[in-house]
Amino acid sequence: MEPLYRVQGGGPLHGDVRISGAKNAALPCLAASLLTTEPCTIENLPAIADVDLFLEILRQLGAEVDHDAANHRVTVQAVGPLAEAPPDRLVANQRASFLVMGPLLAREGRGGCAAPGGDIIGQRPLDVHLRGFRSLGADVRTEAGRFVASGQLRGSRIVLDYPSVLGTENLLLAAVLAEGETVIVNAAAEPEVVALASLLSAMGARIHGAGSHTITVYGVASLHGATTRLIPDRIETGTFAIAAAITGGDVRLVDARPRDLDALLFKLQEIGVEVEEGDGSLRVRRRGAMQATTVQAVPFPGLATDLQALVTTLLTQAEGVSVVNERVFENRLGYVGELRKMGARIVTAGATAIVQGPSPLHGAVVQGLDVRASAALVVAALAADGETELLDIFHLERGYECFGEKLRGLGAAIDRVGVEPATPRL
Ligand code: EPU
Repeated sequence: MEPLYRVQGGGPLHGDVRISGAKNAALPCLAASLLTTEPCTIENLPAIADVDLFLEILRQLGAEVDHDAANHRVTVQAVGPLAEAPPDRLVANQRASFLVMGPLLAREGRGGCAAPGGDIIGQRPLDVHLRGFRSLGADVRTEAGRFVASGQLRGSRIVLDYPSVLGTENLLLAAVLAEGETVIVNAAAEPEVVALASLLSAMGARIHGAGSHTITVYGVASLHGATTRLIPDRIETGTFAIAAAITGGDVRLVDARPRDLDALLFKLQEIGVEVEEGDGSLRVRRRGAMQATTVQAVPFPGLATDLQALVTTLLTQAEGVSVVNERVFENRLGYVGELRKMGARIVTAGATAIVQGPSPLHGAVVQGLDVRASAALVVAALAADGETELLDIFHLERGYECFGEKLRGLGAAIDRVGVEPATPRL
């Protein structure tokens, strides 16, 4: 049976929803557990397919994984010896799996990984990671289709061409055990980088400046085990905030961290959505009409590219012409064609979407193209007249914990159903 989401659009969302731990903090923290032979425990771990896949990669590398999914906790112990590279088949499904390179290289003096897969949202090169490893003294080459890095790491000054999130994380993971001082210039400042640095520091690493664009690492000889609690997922928070706004609802997001979402919350208020920040919570309510605006998806602290499809979807219901510029990935507007099937009036030019609103949305059969685009289509379906079916929900389930259940708790009519597989889509 092929699973899909069936959504009956209509009513406003109401009530409380708990935000899960951040997917994009979970993955680098899991990678960090490879840097020590002692146990590392991660709490508030989201129950999502991307985490399961990363845990399988850790097992395949030789780590012991004690996963208590019901209690959102995992303990990883990588006593060793570790395999040189994760299986290519697993890596092909997840971009973040490349994060094992840094720890393997730092700990074993040699690490390998195939070119990783993941969402098709742009070319997603790896030059930031590979150049960085070279700056740290590694020899980097390809062997049998895999990247292999080897050598004794020495601290150095690394200037990134682009503040890549995974690139910064991979270099941090390598530099903590390098000899001497490393300075990463033009580093990514995303909260997930800070979350990784804070776990590494708890393990005994010496890191300054995480959260700024210059991070300094003083290498240490070894790291020990530690426990960390993941930060709330800011993209899941933004997703529910937008779902509340598009349905004209009133929702309290519990266990959230509003300061990680400044750019979105500012935009929501600008277009006419009420936002009330609490201590670890956020209330989002819309009573009146929304006004069109302009939006740029850029690195943190600007509006996140992972919220771009969701914001564009919301703007289909705002009065006037909105312009959305995607400035991180060159190919992240593919979902626009699916939104059009639901009645949205959007044209694209390169990485820019021009949205004419408000346009009444109606149900349709639509296809999820990546994790965030899939969430955006569900959000559109909540505001649409009639029934929508979302196909390829494996994308969505990579990154959202109990998405349907959480929305049902807010009053949405959404079901995960299995249907006979259709004939192949051409
Ligand atoms: N880039 C390079 N060279 C590199 C790496 C990246 O030019 O070596 C470019 C990319 O082509 C892109 C830009 O840098 O244009 C940003 O890419 P970045 O490397 O920052 O993205 P990422 O680290 O691969 C993470 C998140 C993504 C999120 C981006 C941007 C994880 C596991 N993934 O990806 O999250 O969109 O940062 O914030 O942390 C998602 O959760 O749905 C997701 C795709």
